[in-house]
Amino acid sequence: MVNKHFTSDLPTLLPPSSQECSRRQFLGRIGAGVGAISAAGLVVGEGQGAWAAGVQRPNWNSKSVKKEFGLQEGLVYMNNGTLGPVPNRVITASTNAWREMELNPAGNGFGTTLQQAEAVRQKAADYLGCDLDEIVIMPNTTQSMNAVAQGLHLSEGDRVLTTDQEHPGGVRCWEYYEKRFGVGIDRAVIPTPPESEEEIVDLLAAQITPKTKVISVAHVTTTTGLVLPIAKIAELAESNNCILCVDGAQGPGAMNINVRELNCDTYATSAHKWMLAPKGTGLLYINKRAAEKVDSLRLQDGYRYYTATSGTLDMPAAIGLGASIDFLTEIGKPRIEEWSLYLREMMYDKFLHMPKVTIFSPEAGTMASPLVTVGCEGMTGGDIAAALGKQDIVVKVVPYGNRISTHLYNDEEDVEKVVSAIKQLLG
Ligand SMILES: Cc1ncc(COP(=O)(O)O)c(C=O)c1O
Repeated sequence: MVNKHFTSDLPTLLPPSSQECSRRQFLGRIGAGVGAISAAGLVVGEGQGAWAAGVQRPNWNSKSVKKEFGLQEGLVYMNNGTLGPVPNRVITASTNAWREMELNPAGNGFGTTLQQAEAVRQKAADYLGCDLDEIVIMPNTTQSMNAVAQGLHLSEGDRVLTTDQEHPGGVRCWEYYEKRFGVGIDRAVIPTPPESEEEIVDLLAAQITPKTKVISVAHVTTTTGLVLPIAKIAELAESNNCILCVDGAQGPGAMNINVRELNCDTYATSAHKWMLAPKGTGLLYINKRAAEKVDSLRLQDGYRYYTATSGTLDMPAAIGLGASIDFLTEIGKPRIEEWSLYLREMMYDKFLHMPKVTIFSPEAGTMASPLVTVGCEGMTGGDIAAALGKQDIVVKVVPYGNRISTHLYNDEEDVEKVVSAIKQLLG
């Protein structure tokens, strides 16, 4: 059943107080698209077939990809939205770099190891579709959002427009302004799920005031995996003279994202989620046109990996991030998105017809991501997660119930397992 009655209600998260027919639109239109041919000519929705066409490493399929990860034997890991597993080769790249650095900490740490870490910026820029002088390697989304917010120097009376579906990591930075400097925050209430992208834009537009200086939204919401229409929100921001800051923690990795196409001013992501990179790695994109407006202490000395205002960071982790980007690129961004969404639609369809289950995420289409949130009648999200945990199935507890993710290392068997386990729990 799809949720038709609830709008937002997020007790635990909230604080007190495209262009022409894109690939995603195409996939959305065909839904699960069993056997359909995608825009890229890949077979969509035929399970292993999705891996088979046009692969750079033809012997790879979803099973062999799974072996690239060190996940506990038998674990059905469906909480990538919290933290993603890193491929074994990423651990190797990081530990090799770490060992090498420790041979001569200062000599290598501020020599070859630092050079290798710095080189990852270009890979990251290529991966996200921007220029080298628009990208910073950061520890996570939260610190990137903080750095951006701090750099905007808002003052009393200014307003920030956001939604009621944000993660604290994307809004504490604005709440700090509210508390310390009398900046106002407006929150558009987003239905779960909304009817259309236009509805989201209209809900945001209705809250804009002449005092609104910033629009700050998640690209993919932490609560239900809703994909917000960032390019359309960018038009709204531009026409109202606002800066658009995007919390993309749940974005790049499984989804094929190009930040330039989104046309936002800033975009922060956590590479340790969907990009399958070492924990404590993230990326911050600042569009050139926005660079002068974002004048933060953290970025005072530029965007290089090490600066006088970044201080010394975790270089082996950054080098691991480079290896993760190589891994994702080798498999192919479109292929990963296709697979993740194929599994997502499979799971969505199974839940749709299950008694006692309410789906809070959008149906297939441009608003869908590889995250599905379901609520179960008579059981809390905590009850479900604990019971599944006993069966080695990992899902996330969110205010609406449980959020379940699908990524390239998951397969149809994982989907079957989580769906049938929930069905059994509900009797
Ligand atoms: C939408 C969103 N923003 C921000 C964060 C915080 O991410 P991090 O802890 O990597 O800063 C999360 C984490 O789940 C998230 O889902």
